[in-house]
Amino acid sequence: MQPAPDAIVQYKQRQRESWVHFAPLQAITTPAAAVLVNHARVQSGARVLDAGCGTGVVAITAALRGARVTALDLTPQLLERARENAHLAALEIDFHEGDIEQLPFPGAAFDFVLSQFAHIFAPRPAVALGELLRVLKPGGTIAFSTWPPELLIARTMTLGARYLPAPPPGVETPFLWGDPAVVRQRLGDAVTGIAFDRASMLVPALSLAHFRANAERSAGSLVKVVELLSETDPAALEQFRREFDSIAAEYFRDNVVRQDYLLTRAIKR
Ligand SMILES: C[S@@+](CC[C@H](N)C(=O)[O-])C[C@H]1O[C@@H](n2cnc3c(N)ncnc32)[C@H](O)[C@@H]1O
Repeated sequence: MQPAPDAIVQYKQRQRESWVHFAPLQAITTPAAAVLVNHARVQSGARVLDAGCGTGVVAITAALRGARVTALDLTPQLLERARENAHLAALEIDFHEGDIEQLPFPGAAFDFVLSQFAHIFAPRPAVALGELLRVLKPGGTIAFSTWPPELLIARTMTLGARYLPAPPPGVETPFLWGDPAVVRQRLGDAVTGIAFDRASMLVPALSLAHFRANAERSAGSLVKVVELLSETDPAALEQFRREFDSIAAEYFRDNVVRQDYLLTRAIKR
């Protein structure tokens, strides 16, 4: 079922609002950026797109390796931070505010198209992937990092989503992008040489409460859950927090929360 066009516009507006507070989490997405750039095998001089760049961690990592980088994101506040980050590193990166489902670039413009935990939030996987592959040259590399549905981030964000208005019918969960079988099927014949890997993001946390407080301040839709329930249903907020802690406890040990994820790389035919 295809979601109605206005529902998609509203959904993206909600996405743009949910990611406004994400910048502090660049502390944990920064090491992962190097993992993705390595996995993609980005080369000096190559033309790279970072799709859903947030504060620019992947874009900047690729640019520091000599790539010519373009980066795009839906959320202007994060792009402002990305520009500051690029300036600090004395890099020229071509930043754009825009939507992965409607990329403002000509076909075959890039040698590498990368997305770290970002293209998964575009509501229509086929549209997003169609665009990412359209702007990639034949023989170019697409590579992305995604959250597996059975692990911490997908579990806690799916929990949070239960407390928010339902997405429009037909919008896919972002976390199917973390299942290699689904990724393989979605990439289909458009690519060759699919390669998967796994990595861990190790998040320092003094306690589960510290980990949750950090997520509630910065992590996309979880910020919205807390805003909504604080005003409308404090008992439900307590319930959400209990359930969140019970999931997170499975991944917390020795002051670290372990967030494992999937890496994918493939070559466009
Ligand atoms: C979890 S953050 C990841 C940011 C960055 N890649 C990183 O690793 O730090 C998800 C990002 O996806 C962006 N995003 C969500 N939907 C998008 C869309 N349809 N088009 C472009 N960016 C989108 C958000 O604005 C946010 O910056």
